[in-house]
Amino acid sequence: MSYDLCIIGSGPGGYVCAVKAAQLGLKVAVVEKRATYGGTCLNIGCIPSKALLHTSEMFDEAGHSFEGFGIKVGKPKLDLPAMMKHKEDVIDANTGGVAFLFKKNKIDAFHGTGKIAAPGKVEVTGEDGTTQTVEAKNIVIATGSEVTPLPGIEIDEKQVVSSTGALSLDKVPGKMIVVGAGVIGLELGSVWRRLGAEVTVVEFLDRILPGMDGDVAKNFQRILKKQGFEFKLSSKVTGVEKKGKGLAVSVEPASGDAAAETLDADVVLVAIGRRPFTEGLGLEEVGVELDERKRVKTDGHFKTNIDGIYAIGDVIVGPMLAHKGEDEGAALAEILAGQAGHVNYDVIPGVVYTMPEVASLGKTEEELKAAGIKYKAGKYPFSANGRARAMGHTDGFVKILADAETDKVLGAHMIGAGVGEMIHELAVLMEFGGSSEDLARTCHAHPTLSEAVREAAMATYDKPIHI
Ligand code: FAD
Ligand code: NAI
Repeated sequence: MSYDLCIIGSGPGGYVCAVKAAQLGLKVAVVEKRATYGGTCLNIGCIPSKALLHTSEMFDEAGHSFEGFGIKVGKPKLDLPAMMKHKEDVIDANTGGVAFLFKKNKIDAFHGTGKIAAPGKVEVTGEDGTTQTVEAKNIVIATGSEVTPLPGIEIDEKQVVSSTGALSLDKVPGKMIVVGAGVIGLELGSVWRRLGAEVTVVEFLDRILPGMDGDVAKNFQRILKKQGFEFKLSSKVTGVEKKGKGLAVSVEPASGDAAAETLDADVVLVAIGRRPFTEGLGLEEVGVELDERKRVKTDGHFKTNIDGIYAIGDVIVGPMLAHKGEDEGAALAEILAGQAGHVNYDVIPGVVYTMPEVASLGKTEEELKAAGIKYKAGKYPFSANGRARAMGHTDGFVKILADAETDKVLGAHMIGAGVGEMIHELAVLMEFGGSSEDLARTCHAHPTLSEAVREAAMATYDKPIHI
């Protein structure tokens, strides 16, 4: 059978592209080597991490906040296997959901490792070594990314773990060292800290969450310290040795100009980034070009240098985020169906799902300064928001950056409970080129956390009411 489209990889990029293309009338095949669909995100990424973030947050609240609200439940007891089972159930429901969508949209799924044999031909090798060839007018590379290793440090996924092992530890470590103060380090560090681990984060740079607004990063670090996180910034891990049942971790200043110290740990989580996954895909043989960071090079409309071969998601340039891959998948399906698919890379939210959450959209203050753009910043703290006080979630603030002349909103950066949901009113506003006054003059229900967004918008051009 010949297809309009054969997609290699069923992560958020691949499966959304498949569903959208099928909805638009194309005949679609998907090749996936993993036993279940949904890629990194559904199996070992977004979904399991959010399941554990939610349950560990409830455990932490029961232990620390309930009493202050007048609820006496005694000291909560952890049933880690049950918590992990909830996580597994959530994964199964989501990966099963993708299988259902494939069936519903008459998408043919091939289990096995896909390799591009030639334009129009994907060779699929099953686990038993048998091969079959899928023919398609167009091929989409949606093979995602993998953990970036730390040279000289071997990941065994038991004691020295990547995010994958950190999602399945069988007991709470006494001491956990996290290498990398990025999104994974802070989210999964939060999970295990809430369940009782002492967590020390070792970060190469002099700040956490590089790329996010500096003001937000500084304030967020302060909040995490209050929660019990230890930070060693401008530092690097240079070795991990087994010592008895635990680990001896060598940490040096990033500059290398002072002696190394040795820290004890039960578990080390390596979270220093992810790299595109293109191994064994046959790209070199077919002549598909990669960029300097080994990402598949595209023309801005997802087409590679070879006719009929496209790429989307973590394997191409841009933030390694599920929703970015999903939007690219949908846009490419539209393009292949003869429509005008498009992704607005200026309005892609980034959320860190800790407690409080961090949410970011558009330009940071650092980026605006570097570009010489004059802007106004309006800021409003959750400590002045009635609903936040009622909920006991007063940490954080909303900051809105607007063009000094036109008042057009250029960026929004927030820390606070629920800001991962609240960022989207800014996304809609920015998609429509709205101003901070547009937002501030929009009636917001009271009492809501979103009123802090409105007040921050007011603060860019006028005075907020409640501070
Ligand atoms: P992937 O999801 O990586 O899917 C690629 C698929 O291709 C895989 O299933 C793989 O098995 C398959 N594949 C690869 N090569 C072949 C081959 N040759 N043949 C057949 N199949 C192949 N992003 C967010 O936006 N929000 C979050 O909260 C979030 N949390 C995360 C938490 C963790 C711990 C991690 C690791 C990542 C998280 N991410 C999050 C990032 C997100 O998971 C990725 O951005 C997203 O999964 C990328 O989608 P993709 O479709 O490009 O690739
Ligand atoms: P990251 O790029 O977010 O952070 C890696 C951190 O490690 C950086 O702060 C970097 O400076 C630091 N680092 C690099 N080398 C180091 C070294 N040798 N020693 C110490 N520190 C070092 O990568 P992370 O956290 O691994 O996440 C990977 C990807 O997954 C990210 O691109 C992210 O977008 C995605 N993700 C998204 C989530 C979300 O949207 N909520 C959740 C988890 C992951």
